[in-house]
Amino acid sequence: MIHTPLVVGNWKMHPGTKEEAVTLARTTLQAVKRIAGNGVVAIAPPHIYLTETQKVIGRSSLVLAAQDGFFQELGAFTGEVSMKQLASLGVQYVIIGHSERRARGETDADVACKVQAAHKHKLVPIVCVGERVRDAAGDFYQLIESQLKNALVHCTPAQIKRTTFAYEPIWAIGTGHTATPEDVKEVQLFIHATLAKAYDRRVAGAVRVLYGGSVKASNAEILTKQGGMHGFLVGGASLSAAEFAAIAVAAQS
Ligand code: PGA
Repeated sequence: MIHTPLVVGNWKMHPGTKEEAVTLARTTLQAVKRIAGNGVVAIAPPHIYLTETQKVIGRSSLVLAAQDGFFQELGAFTGEVSMKQLASLGVQYVIIGHSERRARGETDADVACKVQAAHKHKLVPIVCVGERVRDAAGDFYQLIESQLKNALVHCTPAQIKRTTFAYEPIWAIGTGHTATPEDVKEVQLFIHATLAKAYDRRVAGAVRVLYGGSVKASNAEILTKQGGMHGFLVGGASLSAAEFAAIAVAAQS
Protein backbone atom coordinates (compact mmCIF):
# COMPACT_ATOMS: atom_id res chain seq x y z
CA MET A 1 0.00 0.00 0.00
CA ILE A 2 1.33 3.44 -0.95
CA HIS A 3 0.97 6.04 1.80
CA THR A 4 0.82 9.74 1.10
CA PRO A 5 3.72 11.20 3.07
CA LEU A 6 2.69 13.28 6.05
CA VAL A 7 5.01 15.77 7.75
CA VAL A 8 3.78 17.51 10.89
CA GLY A 9 5.57 20.35 12.62
CA ASN A 10 5.01 20.20 16.37
CA TRP A 11 5.82 23.69 17.59
CA LYS A 12 5.36 22.57 21.22
CA MET A 13 5.21 25.65 23.49
CA HIS A 14 6.73 28.00 20.89
CA PRO A 15 6.89 30.81 19.88
CA GLY A 16 6.47 33.30 22.72
CA THR A 17 3.94 35.71 21.19
CA LYS A 18 1.00 35.73 18.80
CA GLU A 19 2.90 38.01 16.42
CA GLU A 20 5.81 35.59 16.23
CA ALA A 21 3.40 32.70 15.64
CA VAL A 22 1.82 34.55 12.72
CA THR A 23 5.26 35.26 11.26
CA LEU A 24 6.32 31.61 11.62
CA ALA A 25 3.07 30.43 10.01
CA ARG A 26 3.61 32.88 7.12
CA THR A 27 7.22 31.92 6.47
CA THR A 28 6.36 28.22 6.73
CA LEU A 29 3.54 28.67 4.24
CA GLN A 30 5.85 30.49 1.82
CA ALA A 31 8.50 27.76 2.11
CA VAL A 32 6.05 24.91 1.75
CA LYS A 33 4.25 26.52 -1.22
CA ARG A 34 7.40 26.05 -3.27
CA ILE A 35 7.26 22.29 -2.85
CA ALA A 36 5.62 20.47 -5.68
CA GLY A 37 4.44 17.11 -4.47
CA ASN A 38 1.68 14.92 -3.28
CA GLY A 39 2.40 14.89 0.43
CA VAL A 40 0.52 16.51 3.29
CA VAL A 41 2.33 19.12 5.36
CA ALA A 42 0.79 20.27 8.64
CA ILE A 43 1.73 22.55 11.50
CA ALA A 44 0.65 22.09 15.10
CA PRO A 45 0.96 25.41 16.94
CA PRO A 46 -0.07 25.84 20.59
CA HIS A 47 -3.88 25.88 20.90
CA ILE A 48 -3.83 29.58 21.72
CA TYR A 49 -2.48 30.35 18.21
CA LEU A 50 -4.70 27.99 16.20
CA THR A 51 -7.16 30.64 15.09
CA GLU A 52 -4.49 33.11 13.95
CA THR A 53 -2.57 30.32 12.21
CA GLN A 54 -5.68 29.17 10.39
CA LYS A 55 -6.23 32.75 9.16
CA VAL A 56 -2.72 32.71 7.68
CA ILE A 57 -2.86 29.31 6.02
CA GLY A 58 -6.51 29.50 4.88
CA ARG A 59 -7.21 26.92 2.21
CA SER A 60 -3.59 26.55 1.17
CA SER A 61 -1.51 23.40 0.88
CA LEU A 62 -0.51 23.72 4.53
CA VAL A 63 -2.96 22.14 6.96
CA LEU A 64 -3.72 22.69 10.61
CA ALA A 65 -2.92 20.19 13.35
CA ALA A 66 -3.24 20.35 17.14
CA GLN A 67 -0.81 19.10 19.78
CA ASP A 68 -3.51 17.45 21.89
CA GLY A 69 -7.27 17.41 22.38
CA PHE A 70 -9.56 16.30 25.17
CA PHE A 71 -12.02 13.42 24.83
CA GLN A 72 -15.04 15.03 26.51
CA GLU A 73 -17.03 17.40 24.30
CA LEU A 74 -18.26 19.97 26.81
CA GLY A 75 -18.35 20.41 30.54
CA ALA A 76 -16.47 21.27 33.69
CA PHE A 77 -12.97 20.45 32.44
CA THR A 78 -10.94 23.56 33.21
CA GLY A 79 -8.15 24.22 30.76
CA GLU A 80 -9.08 21.44 28.33
CA VAL A 81 -9.93 21.87 24.63
CA SER A 82 -12.20 19.29 23.03
CA MET A 83 -11.81 17.56 19.67
CA LYS A 84 -15.12 19.12 18.69
CA GLN A 85 -13.75 22.61 19.43
CA LEU A 86 -10.55 21.85 17.49
CA ALA A 87 -12.54 20.61 14.48
CA SER A 88 -14.59 23.82 14.53
CA LEU A 89 -11.34 25.82 14.11
CA GLY A 90 -10.35 23.89 10.99
CA VAL A 91 -7.95 21.44 12.65
CA GLN A 92 -7.54 18.24 10.61
CA TYR A 93 -4.88 16.26 12.49
CA VAL A 94 -4.31 15.88 16.22
CA ILE A 95 -1.24 14.54 18.04
CA ILE A 96 -2.26 12.19 20.85
CA GLY A 97 -0.16 10.59 23.58
CA HIS A 98 3.01 12.58 22.97
CA SER A 99 5.66 11.47 25.48
CA GLU A 100 5.74 14.99 26.93
CA ARG A 101 2.04 14.61 27.77
CA ARG A 102 2.43 11.04 29.00
CA ALA A 103 5.19 12.34 31.30
CA ARG A 104 2.60 14.69 32.80
CA GLY A 105 0.25 11.85 33.66
CA GLU A 106 -1.57 10.96 30.46
CA THR A 107 -2.44 7.25 30.52
CA ASP A 108 -3.08 4.67 27.80
CA ALA A 109 -6.77 4.87 28.77
CA ASP A 110 -6.79 8.64 28.15
CA VAL A 111 -5.07 8.07 24.81
CA ALA A 112 -7.71 5.52 23.77
CA CYS A 113 -10.57 7.90 24.61
CA LYS A 114 -8.85 10.74 22.75
CA VAL A 115 -8.33 8.57 19.66
CA GLN A 116 -12.04 7.71 19.74
CA ALA A 117 -13.05 11.37 20.16
CA ALA A 118 -10.75 12.42 17.31
CA HIS A 119 -12.38 9.93 14.94
CA LYS A 120 -15.83 11.03 16.03
CA HIS A 121 -15.02 14.58 14.90
CA LYS A 122 -13.22 13.50 11.73
CA LEU A 123 -9.75 14.48 12.93
CA VAL A 124 -6.88 12.16 12.01
CA PRO A 125 -5.23 11.02 15.25
CA ILE A 126 -1.43 10.80 15.24
CA VAL A 127 -0.71 8.48 18.15
CA CYS A 128 2.80 8.67 19.58
CA VAL A 129 4.48 5.50 20.83
CA GLY A 130 8.06 4.89 21.86
CA GLU A 131 10.43 3.69 24.51
CA ARG A 132 12.43 5.66 27.05
CA VAL A 133 15.51 3.44 26.59
CA ARG A 134 16.42 0.83 24.05
CA ASP A 135 17.53 -2.43 25.69
CA ALA A 136 19.67 -4.82 23.68
CA ALA A 137 17.25 -7.69 24.32
CA GLY A 138 14.45 -5.76 22.61
CA ASP A 139 12.09 -5.74 25.61
CA PHE A 140 10.98 -2.25 24.58
CA TYR A 141 8.89 -3.88 21.86
CA GLN A 142 6.48 -5.03 24.56
CA LEU A 143 5.90 -1.43 25.54
CA ILE A 144 5.31 -0.39 21.93
CA GLU A 145 2.88 -3.28 21.48
CA SER A 146 0.88 -2.36 24.57
CA GLN A 147 0.82 1.36 23.65
CA LEU A 148 -0.45 0.44 20.17
CA LYS A 149 -3.12 -2.00 21.26
CA ASN A 150 -4.32 0.12 24.16
CA ALA A 151 -4.69 3.17 21.92
CA LEU A 152 -7.02 1.29 19.60
CA VAL A 153 -9.31 -0.50 22.06
CA HIS A 154 -12.39 1.58 21.19
CA CYS A 155 -11.76 1.72 17.42
CA THR A 156 -13.53 -0.06 14.60
CA PRO A 157 -11.31 -1.50 11.82
CA ALA A 158 -12.33 1.44 9.60
CA GLN A 159 -11.14 3.89 12.27
CA ILE A 160 -7.87 2.01 12.73
CA LYS A 161 -7.18 2.41 9.01
CA ARG A 162 -7.53 6.19 9.44
CA THR A 163 -5.16 6.27 12.43
CA THR A 164 -1.55 7.36 12.06
CA PHE A 165 1.19 6.26 14.44
CA ALA A 166 4.37 8.17 15.18
CA TYR A 167 7.29 6.16 16.46
CA GLU A 168 9.00 8.62 18.78
CA PRO A 169 11.70 7.04 20.94
CA ILE A 170 11.99 9.33 23.96
CA TRP A 171 15.79 9.13 23.91
CA ALA A 172 15.77 10.72 20.45
CA ILE A 173 13.42 13.63 21.18
CA GLY A 174 15.25 16.94 21.32
CA THR A 175 18.58 15.23 21.94
CA GLY A 176 20.18 15.27 18.49
CA HIS A 177 20.42 11.44 18.65
CA THR A 178 18.29 10.16 15.79
CA ALA A 179 17.27 6.51 15.47
CA THR A 180 18.98 4.75 12.58
CA PRO A 181 17.08 3.86 9.40
CA GLU A 182 17.42 0.19 10.41
CA ASP A 183 15.89 0.90 13.84
CA VAL A 184 12.91 2.74 12.42
CA LYS A 185 12.33 0.18 9.67
CA GLU A 186 12.27 -2.58 12.26
CA VAL A 187 9.74 -0.70 14.40
CA GLN A 188 7.57 0.06 11.39
CA LEU A 189 7.52 -3.65 10.44
CA PHE A 190 6.75 -4.51 14.05
CA ILE A 191 3.82 -2.06 14.16
CA HIS A 192 2.34 -3.47 10.95
CA ALA A 193 2.89 -7.09 12.08
CA THR A 194 1.27 -6.38 15.45
CA LEU A 195 -1.76 -4.79 13.81
CA ALA A 196 -1.99 -7.59 11.24
CA LYS A 197 -2.06 -10.15 14.05
CA ALA A 198 -4.58 -8.22 16.15
CA TYR A 199 -6.85 -7.23 13.22
CA ASP A 200 -5.98 -8.16 9.64
CA ARG A 201 -3.42 -7.42 6.99
CA ARG A 202 -5.58 -4.94 5.08
CA VAL A 203 -6.20 -2.88 8.20
CA ALA A 204 -2.52 -3.01 9.16
CA GLY A 205 -1.35 -2.08 5.68
CA ALA A 206 -3.48 1.07 5.67
CA VAL A 207 -1.89 2.49 8.80
CA ARG A 208 0.70 5.21 8.24
CA VAL A 209 3.82 5.20 10.43
CA LEU A 210 5.81 8.39 10.98
CA TYR A 211 9.08 8.84 12.80
CA GLY A 212 9.87 11.61 15.27
CA GLY A 213 12.99 12.39 17.27
CA SER A 214 15.65 14.89 16.19
CA VAL A 215 14.56 14.85 12.55
CA LYS A 216 16.48 17.36 10.45
CA ALA A 217 16.82 18.09 6.76
CA SER A 218 20.15 16.24 6.84
CA ASN A 219 18.71 12.91 8.08
CA ALA A 220 15.16 12.95 6.69
CA GLU A 221 16.06 11.58 3.27
CA ILE A 222 17.88 8.51 4.55
CA LEU A 223 15.11 7.84 7.07
CA THR A 224 12.63 7.97 4.20
CA LYS A 225 14.57 5.94 1.67
CA GLN A 226 16.16 3.34 3.92
CA GLY A 227 13.89 3.56 6.94
CA GLY A 228 10.74 3.45 4.81
CA MET A 229 9.01 6.08 6.91
CA HIS A 230 5.71 7.54 5.64
CA GLY A 231 6.63 10.95 7.00
CA PHE A 232 7.79 12.72 10.15
CA LEU A 233 6.69 14.38 13.33
CA VAL A 234 9.14 17.24 13.65
CA GLY A 235 9.76 19.25 16.81
CA GLY A 236 12.69 21.69 16.99
CA ALA A 237 13.35 21.77 13.25
CA SER A 238 9.78 22.89 12.53
CA LEU A 239 10.61 26.28 14.09
CA SER A 240 12.73 27.03 11.02
CA ALA A 241 10.55 27.32 7.92
CA ALA A 242 13.40 26.48 5.52
CA GLU A 243 14.55 23.44 7.51
CA PHE A 244 10.97 22.20 7.88
CA ALA A 245 10.26 22.58 4.17
CA ALA A 246 13.46 20.68 3.35
CA ILE A 247 12.27 17.83 5.58
CA ALA A 248 8.92 17.84 3.76
CA VAL A 249 10.78 17.55 0.43
CA ALA A 250 12.87 14.66 1.76
CA ALA A 251 9.73 12.85 2.96
CA GLN A 252 8.50 12.81 -0.64
CA SER A 253 11.76 11.41 -1.97
P1 PGA B 1 12.33 16.94 18.10
O1 PGA B 1 10.87 16.62 18.70
O2 PGA B 1 12.19 16.90 16.60
O3 PGA B 1 12.67 18.29 18.63
O4 PGA B 1 13.23 15.86 18.60
C1 PGA B 1 10.03 15.66 18.12
C2 PGA B 1 8.74 15.55 18.89
O5 PGA B 1 8.76 15.68 20.12
O6 PGA B 1 7.67 15.36 18.31
